Amino acid sequence: MARIASDPDRLLFHVEPELGWLNDPNGLVQIGDTYHIYHQYDPFDAAHGGPVLWNHLTTKDFVTYENHGPVLFPDSDLDSSGAYSGSAFVRDGKIHYFYTGNVKHFDRDDYDYVLTGREQNQIHMVAENPDELGEKRMAVGPVDYPDDIGTHVRDPKILEHDGIYYMVLGARTKDDRGCVLVYTSRDLGVWSYATRIELGEKFGFMWECPDLFELDGELILVCCPQGVPADGWRYRNPHQCVWFPIEADWEAPSFKIVGKGMPPMVDAGFDFYAPQSFEDAAGRRLMIGWSGCPDATAENPTVARGWQCALTVPRELSMRDGKLCQQPAHEIERMRGDCVRTTGGETVEEPGRLFDLVVSCEGAKMVELEIRKGVFVRYADGMLTLDMGDEGYGRDQRSIELGELRDLRVLSDTTMVEIFANGGEAALTSRTYSSAVPAMALHAEGAASMDFYRLAH
Ligand code: FRU
Repeated sequence: MARIASDPDRLLFHVEPELGWLNDPNGLVQIGDTYHIYHQYDPFDAAHGGPVLWNHLTTKDFVTYENHGPVLFPDSDLDSSGAYSGSAFVRDGKIHYFYTGNVKHFDRDDYDYVLTGREQNQIHMVAENPDELGEKRMAVGPVDYPDDIGTHVRDPKILEHDGIYYMVLGARTKDDRGCVLVYTSRDLGVWSYATRIELGEKFGFMWECPDLFELDGELILVCCPQGVPADGWRYRNPHQCVWFPIEADWEAPSFKIVGKGMPPMVDAGFDFYAPQSFEDAAGRRLMIGWSGCPDATAENPTVARGWQCALTVPRELSMRDGKLCQQPAHEIERMRGDCVRTTGGETVEEPGRLFDLVVSCEGAKMVELEIRKGVFVRYADGMLTLDMGDEGYGRDQRSIELGELRDLRVLSDTTMVEIFANGGEAALTSRTYSSAVPAMALHAEGAASMDFYRLAH
């Protein structure tokens, strides 16, 4: 563990596993002045072979974190093959945790165990404080799923509207179409099936990690459809994270996806999946993603050294002109040193890997930055592209169509970059393992300036 902790590839202001593997953020909640973050964790295998459990961290500032270690284990008949993803919801001073218990059924065939089936149970726990998660109780189980739904039903997330609780669950039909099931409750204890959210045509075989929330007067569904084929610059990872505007009839209830066509990606980078959002005491809707990707073709060289994957920084969400926008939580800016402003060809010498830079470029035709040796962020012909060069470990290029570029922000930790454009209308998150950073220079066709901040941690 000491060897891992001193590895130069460790991130400095992002959550990552002490050892082993990490995936989805879970149970995000603020209690008093403390934010609680749980995540999917396999401490035994950096390549993720074993059952997952929940690890627990706290932070007051999203810059330094206290790690409390594993708290939720797959130790019952309801969750014996994994304590899968879930969420937290506070009501009357009590914390209600919901998560999916994954259960695999095996038969023994000589020396081998043969998988004969599986079930996924939605488990409810009520706790007085976030260190004791409470007793496991089945909230929604296989007998409660509609007949056309298979064995994949998971990742409960709760929304309250006018005193009614809505639980959304990611699901896969028996004929391999992804959708979201909605259950309702008046007390968070007893749930009944209400309706589903789906698209007319097939869009992926399974929708994971649904998150239904109200934001600036609109209802939004974020979810992760698996197995959507690539379409031009869109959907190039094996699985996607997209968002839909939703029209609700709360009385019925029914939830319809508004509009047609290809849903926007929440983040178009190589390493972003399974985000979860929550509202904090200040009324901000903060979203944290998993900086990793299931079945990814891209690799992380740290696996050989005993760990991989991380969480993104929390991002504050807002709706602007019908677009879902994300910006790093303002707490991150406390790490900024002095501002170095460049407007012409000047360079920032020895920028290091820890920086936060903002380019303002109303009307520029082309903008280019080399953020690591051979790794470029480029805006040209209306497209923003992250080009990983030769050091992507299977990552090549990802692009997103922007039209004009107004501003560009690159938040960089040792081995992760989070890129935002046009006030957060577009985001690209990727791991990057090349350690050399050339002198930072802004190349632009047209008027552009850069505010560059080294980050101190
Ligand atoms: C998404 C996911 C969830 C599941 C969890 C298991 O990455 O597959 O659907 O609950 O990870 O670790």
